[in-house]
Amino acid sequence: MAILDKHAILEKNVTLLAIFAFLVVTIGGIVQIAPLFWLENTIEDVEGMRPYTPLELAGREIYMREGCYVCHSQMIRPMRDEHERYGHYSLAAESKYDHPHQWGSKRTGPDLARVGGRYSDEWHADHLRDPQAVVPESVMPKYGFLEHAKLDSRYIGELMATNRIVGVPYTDDMIANAEADFAAQADPDSDYDGLLERYGEDSVQVRNFDGTAELTEADALIAYLQMLGTLVDFSTFTPDASR
Ligand code: HEC
Repeated sequence: MAILDKHAILEKNVTLLAIFAFLVVTIGGIVQIAPLFWLENTIEDVEGMRPYTPLELAGREIYMREGCYVCHSQMIRPMRDEHERYGHYSLAAESKYDHPHQWGSKRTGPDLARVGGRYSDEWHADHLRDPQAVVPESVMPKYGFLEHAKLDSRYIGELMATNRIVGVPYTDDMIANAEADFAAQADPDSDYDGLLERYGEDSVQVRNFDGTAELTEADALIAYLQMLGTLVDFSTFTPDASR
């Protein structure tokens, strides 16, 4: 009973209660925050992750500009129903080059974290042009104008340089070749060896994504959608529990 008696003193004195509550919260805070100062990195490195190619990065900008994130999340939670519907749960490393990340929480449409490779390019082009033609009950807006909007490459180098400031490992070579790599990825007849050399042969998809002769915003957006969630090979991935 003695401890309860002492607690009663605290409960009856607002100032004392405030001081002790503050102390408890402070200790809790320090326990959570202090270790971060000694950890070199809080994100576990995962094989396969690479920065976005210029075309994918441009597609990501369009994704944000059009507010796709308002209806779509990019974060598969470690729960069985999500796992069965969308695939392996999202790893922190998979969004380490995302500034800002696109995790979201609102799912009017499905999660897109692993949509890459799930549909063909034509499916995406048709679906963006007229979602209801593909999924009649869809409430997704039509984005047909994207395949008529010429892709603006003017600021892609600057955008990459800005991403570099916040930690994305773009090299000078990548930034210098941004505009060329941009066009090369959407043109399978071009010389895209440099692009593959810079970003990795296995993970960069080179195709005419929207099927039109022009390099359009739809090319960039589809290139981005088709790479989402495809970089890490989950047939060989095992979480590193030692950290
Ligand atoms: C108003 C909400 C809304 C917005 C905004 C929206 N979508 Fe959707 N999206 C949906 C809904 C609902 C579906 C499911 C029905 C369908 O497939 O059309 C969907 C489906 C999709 C799918 C198919 C996913 C799958 O796994 O089947 C993709 C890809 C997609 N959206 C991409 C986009 C992109 C890219 C944008 C931005 C340019 C966008 N969406 C904007 C609501 C939205």
